[in-house]
Amino acid sequence: MIDRRTALRWGGGAALGVAGLGLARAIDQGVIPILPRPGLDAWGDWNNGRHNGPLALVAAGVLASSPHNTQPWQFAVGRLGVDIFEVPVRALGAMDPFGRERLAGLGAAIHNMALASTAIGRSAHVRLLPDAGNPLHVARVVLGPEGERMAPHPLVAAIGHRHVDRGGYAGGAIAPAKVAALAATAGSPLVRIALFDAASARGRRFADLTIDATAAIAADADMMAASHSWFRHERRDQDRLKDGLGIATSGVSPFIAAAGAMLPDQPASEGPYWLASTRETALPTASLFGLILVADPWDRRSALLAGMAWQRLHLTATRAGLAAQPLNQLPEMIDRERQLRRPPRFARAADGLLDDVAWRPTFALRTGNPMAPARASPRRPVSEVIGAPARLDWDVEQARAETAAQDAALARRGK
Ligand SMILES: Cc1cc2nc3c(=O)[nH]c(=O)nc-3n(C[C@H](O)[C@H](O)[C@H](O)COP(=O)(O)O)c2cc1C
Repeated sequence: MIDRRTALRWGGGAALGVAGLGLARAIDQGVIPILPRPGLDAWGDWNNGRHNGPLALVAAGVLASSPHNTQPWQFAVGRLGVDIFEVPVRALGAMDPFGRERLAGLGAAIHNMALASTAIGRSAHVRLLPDAGNPLHVARVVLGPEGERMAPHPLVAAIGHRHVDRGGYAGGAIAPAKVAALAATAGSPLVRIALFDAASARGRRFADLTIDATAAIAADADMMAASHSWFRHERRDQDRLKDGLGIATSGVSPFIAAAGAMLPDQPASEGPYWLASTRETALPTASLFGLILVADPWDRRSALLAGMAWQRLHLTATRAGLAAQPLNQLPEMIDRERQLRRPPRFARAADGLLDDVAWRPTFALRTGNPMAPARASPRRPVSEVIGAPARLDWDVEQARAETAAQDAALARRGK
């Protein structure tokens, strides 16, 4: 028989063991933040000006928004600029069956890079889809001459502080000048921006449709599996992969985030949590809803331009002290119905949000007054996104052209 003293000793040992395991888990999961966070270094790299020349463009590009933080990009850096390539395997599957959102993420990166050229004092010329023979080559950013002394664009300062805010917002109106600045971010005649008060009839329709679309996604096992494949529950995965979504940026309070991080991953709770937070937090606390509209959402150039517009809008919001979050459940369900050749219930319902049904929604969002600063999400740094498939033959072509021009000049002088 076990006496009382032995039982107490065993009990105490077990309690210490459990506490020790809890402590180890808390450190491992970043709840006790004593380990470095390599997934967040890319923010410091940009904010501290670690990279010079064309590499600075990549440092800004990697901080762009992308669907589920998939970062579907690869960069080839040359003396005269940077080429950007789509990486189709960094995909969202049934959540983005046509790669429309992937291209929007690439557009966001292109926009950051064009802005970043002014941070190194140079202009930039962007050519979208420059190579008809290689559709994955989505853009070439050509830098203006060295020594131009361009002043930094006013949005440059927001690049390193722009974070999606998935928490509750404080409510209240947004100053008309700020609304006008957001409305002016389309950036191309192929893109339009529609903003409407959350409390307006259109705002209520938007909220109802977004809840419907969220419920439809939550009930779609393939969409939820695709979404979850980019969820990084373990801090080690966040540090190793430096991509995807995590509980810390999901909009829950720091206390809930810490408690959730201590538990094992709960994929089955993702759909119900998402529906509840959309219905109870995201929609009712927003001041404004917005749609980015294009004539053809599945046209690759339009998708890139829409992503550039979203990035411009979010940087403008950040600069104005506003919070913002994409709420793309409606466009995602429009794609899903199109993929499965179902009757276009969500596309038809979206007509009720539009002034002109020829302009289709490709991106939806909310904005408002923040309650607390939004947190940064991980990024793969410059060193992990440059290289193959490099396109350095561009530099070689340019060097050849320059040499030929010099030879011709010499020959003329020699005459
Ligand atoms: C095309 C596209 C669609 C997105 N859709 C959503 C969305 O529906 N809900 C959401 O919370 N965030 C959405 N995002 C934001 C990304 O999840 C976010 O940019 C990414 O996780 C990186 O976080 P950060 O932008 O705060 O750095 C979307 C971003 C892009 C480019």
